[in-house]
Parts: sequence; C-alpha cells; structure tokens
Amino acid sequence: MEPRNKKIVVANWKLNPTNLQDAKKLFLSTKKISKDLKRTKVVVCPPSLYLSSVKSDSKNKKVSRGAQDVFYQDEGSYTGEISSLMLKDLNVSYSIVGHSERRKMGETNDDVSRKVRALLRTGIKPILCIGESERDTDGAYLVKLREQIMASLEGVKKNEIIDIMIAYEPVWAIGAREAIDAHSLYQTSLFIKKIIIESFGKRIADMIPILYGGSVNPDNVADLISNGEVDGLLVGRDSLNIENFEEILLTTDKL
Ligand code: PGA
Repeated sequence: MEPRNKKIVVANWKLNPTNLQDAKKLFLSTKKISKDLKRTKVVVCPPSLYLSSVKSDSKNKKVSRGAQDVFYQDEGSYTGEISSLMLKDLNVSYSIVGHSERRKMGETNDDVSRKVRALLRTGIKPILCIGESERDTDGAYLVKLREQIMASLEGVKKNEIIDIMIAYEPVWAIGAREAIDAHSLYQTSLFIKKIIIESFGKRIADMIPILYGGSVNPDNVADLISNGEVDGLLVGRDSLNIENFEEILLTTDKL
C-alpha cells in the first residue's frame, strides 16, 4: 500500500534513451532533483534492459524503479519476455501493465489481469493503465473504462488490491498536444473510484491511488493535480526532459 499523504509521479521513459550512458545520466539527474521532495514519490520506468544499471539509493528512497511491462509466466519457453521473478531479483518495486501502447500491439484485458496477478504474487506493485480511445457524448467510454477495470482486476483478492495503483490514461491524450481538462479528469477519477468501491468497498478504494497520464507538462500539472482529484501522474515525454520534469516534480510537491 502507498502512503496516502504522498503524491506519486511515474516517469515512463518508453523506448528511450537509446544508450545506457544517457539512461544513467537521466536517472542520476532525476535522483538529484528528487532529493528534496517532501511529499512526492517518484517511480522511474526505464527500458527493462537498463533496470540493473540504474540504482535506487539506499539513502534516497524517493526514487524507485519500475518496469514498463512484464510477462505473466514466471519462466519457460517464452522468447523475448521478462518475468516478475526476474524483476523481483533486481529489486524492482513496480511495473506498468496494460499501457495503451501495449494494448495497441494486441494485449488483451485477460493478458493484463494475468500480468497483474503475476506481479502481486511476486510482491511487485502493478501500475494498471486504463483509458478510452475516444470520448463520446453518450457515455460509451465509461462502459469501456468499467470493462477494462473489472477485467484487469479479475481474480485479484481484496487484500491484494491495495498494492495496485490505477493510472487513467485516455488514449487520445497520450503523446498529444493537450491533456484532458481538469474538470473531466475530476469526473472520471470519481467514476473510477466508484467502480472500485462497488467491487472492493470504500475503505479499500480509499487506499488505491489514482494517477493521470497523457500530455502532462509543467503548464498543466498544477491544475490537473489540484482540480483533477488524482493522487499523482504518469509522465511520458516530459520525464525525458529533465528541466520540465524538475518543474513537474517541484510543482507537485508544493500542492
Ligand atoms: P505523454 O505519455 O506524457 O508523452 O503523453 C504518457 C504515457 O503514455 O504514459
């Protein structure tokens, strides 16, 4: 379970940077700017290949490492995959699952739920991504969100779900020019919470952080956090730009 008095900012580096030296530099800079954060926890998710070369600090616990994806089997004949046991062995604490860029490559809700359960079995915290491809005016996107949440959490027990974070990432806002507006985020965040309450009860729902991701930048971060009813952010592009990321972290920490 995450401490509820802290905001969480997840850096999703995606397929960047293209060499280990730059990855180490970026991680080091992220650690430096995170040192003085009082109320913000940072999770950096580099490409898995770099996970063993970027180290969290025993003194500075503000930055943790996460994977961007995981496979649901522990070991065996699955060419190209990485298991939660392997992540655990490297002391990785988190893993993103169900990112829309993976879903676009064919990942189903069933795959996502198997990944979530594999992570929980191993003691790694899943950052479960959900999000609609488009927003209609009839509320079909809400049906889709409900479906994604329920299917991805299939088989997850009440005592396990408290280790999950939900990252709401509307697909249309990822890699876009603009993020969602804070009012729509507020409504969607409450909707997500309501679904969790229905299945797991209010006490548990209160323990599950809801993050927002999609075109977060230094200009919109304050509005999204203050008015969007979220506990943190998942940042793509601007986690690679250290000046922008610093601003995002410092602003978040003040709110
Ligand atoms: P973005 O990516 O911040 O570049 O929009 C967010 C994400 O895909 O997690």
